Amino acid sequence: MVNLAKVIGLLDGGVIPEFQGTTLTELAIAYKEVCEVDSKNSDLFLLGLEQYYDKNKLTNEIKSFDEFFELSLIFDRDKNSINRFFDAALGLRTIGNLAKFDQIAHEKQTGIKEEQRVRGSFEYAHAQTHYSLLIDIFNYLRPPGKKSLVDIGSGFGRVGFFLNLCFPELKYLGLELVEERVDCANKIAEKNNFYNCKFMTQDLSDKEYVLPKADFYYFYDPLSEENLKKVILDLELQHKHNASHFMIIALSGYDDLLLEYLKSQPWLQVIRSIEDTYFKQAGLILQTVSI
Ligand SMILES: C[S@@+](CC[C@H](N)C(=O)[O-])C[C@H]1O[C@@H](n2cnc3c(N)ncnc32)[C@H](O)[C@@H]1O
Repeated sequence: MVNLAKVIGLLDGGVIPEFQGTTLTELAIAYKEVCEVDSKNSDLFLLGLEQYYDKNKLTNEIKSFDEFFELSLIFDRDKNSINRFFDAALGLRTIGNLAKFDQIAHEKQTGIKEEQRVRGSFEYAHAQTHYSLLIDIFNYLRPPGKKSLVDIGSGFGRVGFFLNLCFPELKYLGLELVEERVDCANKIAEKNNFYNCKFMTQDLSDKEYVLPKADFYYFYDPLSEENLKKVILDLELQHKHNASHFMIIALSGYDDLLLEYLKSQPWLQVIRSIEDTYFKQAGLILQTVSI
């Protein structure tokens, strides 16, 4: 049990609360209450949560999509709280921020100009799919065990962690340009024993690189127009030459180029549209069709 009055007292004194013998559900309820009555100290609460799951296993508490979904309901419609809470439980808030600073230091040392930086360079939290959208997408897809998913530009790894918690049999591969993000994602995967989650440093604009075969490909605003078209052409050739069938999950980012381009492909068929009015984001799920 979480003694809320005691926790609020500690937070007011600037102390990180040490939780013991509690559950993720109790912590979620307590976090929601802290946000309501003592929001200025809610980040300290999240540090306590992070420390608790340094010693305890998150995978003992979330073993399926339905368990994740139920926990998310505790936050009603507060989608930002869902992001903060689950990132903290994973250890992603601290490790993700450290990776962000490492990346800044690296970019400064190499003298890279601002306009050459990777899109979303300094935004650890915003460069990732919101959990609320992941819930919508995978509530619909419910991928059966042993399927595989490749994340095109996997960032700090949130999609992979979500999938390992909710669909532990699904094989996830995250490909990402920025080494610091890959290191961060691998650290979190190791810390949480996510054995079906692999992250690799890969520049997807490399003309020689061929994407591995998968049942699902996930795109959230990873590439420039030219490189996006190259990757999508790779997938088209894979579909046509190897008669392979797969699905594409695509989310809009800076613009709708990705969604418009995918919609115009005759070898793909839209099977679901996704819209999130709160985050002003749209998405599509498409599948290959025989032509
Ligand atoms: C918006 S983030 C999405 C992260 C993750 N897929 C998610 O949805 O949470 C896009 C990622 O694509 C990566 N990226 C950009 N250009 C890339 C390239 N040429 N090769 C591989 N990854 C790239 C960026 O570094 C960034 O981390």
